[in-house]
This record gives sequence, C-alpha cells and structure tokens, in this order.
Amino acid sequence: MIVKVRRFKEGRFVTDQYQLDIRMPLTVLEILYRIREEHDPTLSFRVMCRASVCGTCGVKVNGKPVLACNTRVDGEEEILIEPLQEVGVLKDLVVDQEHLPQILKRHRLWLVPSDEAISVSKETLFKTAKAWDCIACDICNAVCPPLQEGREFGGPMAFTRAYRITEDPRDTLAEGRLEDLLNMNPRQCVHCSNCNLFCPKGCMPERWINLIETKLVGAGLLSKKEEDFGFLGF
Ligand code: SF4
Ligand code: SF4
Ligand code: FES
Repeated sequence: MIVKVRRFKEGRFVTDQYQLDIRMPLTVLEILYRIREEHDPTLSFRVMCRASVCGTCGVKVNGKPVLACNTRVDGEEEILIEPLQEVGVLKDLVVDQEHLPQILKRHRLWLVPSDEAISVSKETLFKTAKAWDCIACDICNAVCPPLQEGREFGGPMAFTRAYRITEDPRDTLAEGRLEDLLNMNPRQCVHCSNCNLFCPKGCMPERWINLIETKLVGAGLLSKKEEDFGFLGF
C-alpha cells in the first residue's frame, strides 16, 4: 500500500510517500506507527487512549475527518493522511488543541451543582445519552462551515456539551445558562449536517442545536423564525 502523509515541516506543508507491506486490515493509527517504526522515526501525530475515548487522534483520511484509532483501512492501494485542520498545525499531523478548553471556558460548559443531593431521572439520562458520548475530538468543529469562516458561533461540540448541562436538574445557573446559550448564537448554524455525518461517536450535534434554539424561543430570548409562520400562506 502507498501511504501519503501531508505533514507540516519547517513552516510548510509537504507530502511524503511511504510504501508499506500490509497484509491485513489495520487502523490508520497502526499505519502511522508502522511508518514511524519502519521509515521515519520523526513522524509526529497525537495519540493517547487508542480506544476512541480521549478524542486526540483526529486526522483526515482521503479528505474525510476521522479518529485514526477507530478507522480501519482494508484493501486500498493508496491513502492520503492529513492533519485534521489547515490552521494551527504544530508539527506533521499534530494540531494545536488549546482552543478546546478555551471554548469550554468561554461558554461556561460545566455543571454548576447545588449543595443538595438531586437525582437525575432515567428519562433525562436517556434523553441526553448521546450528548454525553462526546469525547471533544473537534471533528465536528473542523467540518462546520460557520466556524471555519470565523463567525461568532459556539460550534457543534459546544452545543453538544451545553445540551447535556441544560437538561441536568443539578445545574443551578438557570437564567444565566440561557444567556450563555444565546451568546453561542445557535442561529449561525446553517444545518448542513456535516457534524452529524462525521461525528465518530454518533452524537448528532445538530439535533442539540435545534433543541436549544427551541428552548430559547420558548423562553422568549429568540424570536420565531419567519418560516415558522408559514401557515399564514403568503
Ligand atoms: S449542522 Fe450546523 S453545527 Fe453542524 S456542521 Fe453544519 S453548520 Fe455546523
Ligand atoms: S460531538 Fe462528536 S465530533 Fe463533535 S467533538 Fe463531540 S465526539 Fe467529536
Ligand atoms: S487515541 Fe484516543 S480517541 Fe483515538
């Protein structure tokens, strides 16, 4: 198999090519290790858990954003591995992830619990289960047009996190939380569904954005969209 790796080296992108003898399906991560062991010990990439849990190993394979550790390559004659994003690449395939804690901080995306013991119902856990699966891998953000265009928008990862907090009865921020959600500008979402399509954990971020928007309309903080008045028939 020919493996091309688009690497950021000495301030510019270069594409290096490696020939690997692969006789069984391997993950992209295993292929990167093989390149490092057999061809180039300087190849840099991010990895921690190797089990789709830590969210650090995002790369693009043949143009599609994936987790390297849970993506198998089987039978292809040639693949191209690239950094997850064009901007903020530190070395080879390693992208700066400093913006992730900054997103969480900017939008207060953590639970602020009361001192009382409050139990979470099974229904709430069931309703938010998919949002809890988010591993902050940044893949959805990397394919989100408004974020990539630099618009003021919380982005799919932030909304996924926000939904599970706003539905949690232990959270005490109430009105303040709604203001935070409003400041994340849910209406910047263009509903392209890229986030749903590429999320490796099936979190369906666009769904949470829709639900949060509905919540803000219900609270009177956002107006109804014009198309919501379509029944008027003009
Ligand atoms: S559906 Fe919305 S949040 Fe998801 S990628 Fe598209 S614009 Fe971004
Ligand atoms: S919603 Fe999915 S794609 Fe986005 S950060 Fe979470 S796990 Fe990754
Ligand atoms: S190495 Fe942790 S998600 Fe891939």
